Amino acid sequence: MTSATFDFAPLLPAGLPAPAAKWTGLAKYSFVGGNNDPDGVPVEGLIDAVNAVLQREGRMLATYGLASGPQGYRPLREFLTRKLKRDAGIECVADDILIVSGSLQALDLANGALLARGDTVICERDNYQGTLTRFQRLGVTPVGIPLDEHGMRIDALEAALADLKRKGVRPKFIYTIPTVQNPTGTILPEERRVALLKLADDYGVPIVEDDCYSDLIWSGKRPPALYAMSRSENVIHIGSFSKSIAPALRVGFIVAPWAIMSRMLALKTDAGSGALEQMVLAEYCRDNFVTHVPQLRVALRKKLDILMEALNEQFGTAAEFAEPEGGIFLWVRLPDQVDTLTLYQKALAAGVAINPGPEWSTDKAHSKSRMRLCFASPSHAEIRDGIAVLADICRKEFGVPERSANVARAKG
Ligand SMILES: Cc1ncc(COP(=O)(O)O)c(C=O)c1O
Repeated sequence: MTSATFDFAPLLPAGLPAPAAKWTGLAKYSFVGGNNDPDGVPVEGLIDAVNAVLQREGRMLATYGLASGPQGYRPLREFLTRKLKRDAGIECVADDILIVSGSLQALDLANGALLARGDTVICERDNYQGTLTRFQRLGVTPVGIPLDEHGMRIDALEAALADLKRKGVRPKFIYTIPTVQNPTGTILPEERRVALLKLADDYGVPIVEDDCYSDLIWSGKRPPALYAMSRSENVIHIGSFSKSIAPALRVGFIVAPWAIMSRMLALKTDAGSGALEQMVLAEYCRDNFVTHVPQLRVALRKKLDILMEALNEQFGTAAEFAEPEGGIFLWVRLPDQVDTLTLYQKALAAGVAINPGPEWSTDKAHSKSRMRLCFASPSHAEIRDGIAVLADICRKEFGVPERSANVARAKG
């Protein structure tokens, strides 16, 4: 018998994504990914919830779907109906909700139900990388709408819709992150939501509302969800427990009218999302969600303050940013000569991971000197030290900031 390695390459179908890179561990100073604050995970409460729910209902694990049907564990959907009404103004029943394996699966289902190669979608210009790479893989053209300090610019959206109509293109949907936008951290005010819904109605385009950061607003107050405000059942609302409880649980949800829910449900072929996670979340969240989330926000807000202080100290005026109203990241603009794709490589070699702007935008030139920094996961000391290392590398590579921590330094 020969021991030559089997060659899979000739068997791979055309159109597969590029091979995945092997995991090499987190950087020493990691400002990437949607990771949460390790001290913010309610470990004790989750342990109590696991024990309680398994003792009471553990035997139900013998059934696919926990005897709740394919849309997910009913007590979790019932918790969500109460939460969504209280926080987002959404009136829905458990049957309007589908529990999914993280909101990434929700994006796949919405895309799967609505998109075909060659289609056009509308989205905010600076955007979640996971969404942009999905559009690219599907062969779909995203039309990026610029944002200002209040989120998507409605004048630019109107112009884009009119332009596409003139060209005979009907976009498949408007994908938006209206409540703590990723990466800009902006919140679309209620008047703009009204205008966005009107344009969507006028042009016959549905909306995919990705709302996964809406629990993390410093003030605790949010405008109603687009789903709640729509009068024409044209919104698919996507949420997640990743940012409020823990991303590793992989539990998200979709609220949608049955006409499109039934199409997405038919595409969810994994026989249901992880049951234990759903049971534990339902048990934990019922009594604890409302006290846990405000504590998490305070801890995140503190980390944001430390990050902004560190940037001001190390980069001075070279780092421009608007203070986000919530969330876990800061979108930073550096001087034009900085290419954040290069900075990303150099910084990573020194143990600092950042998200380079061009990976988070439909407009590579506009985002060339921008970067996204996630502040939830690193400790206070790691934020301070990591930004000092980043400033040093940036200065050596691009000559900015000229001064770091009030010390003038020469390039090189
Ligand atoms: C805008 C947005 N949507 C969706 C996701 C996916 O989150 P999850 O699948 O963990 O719910 C993320 C994660 O960072 C995100 O930022």
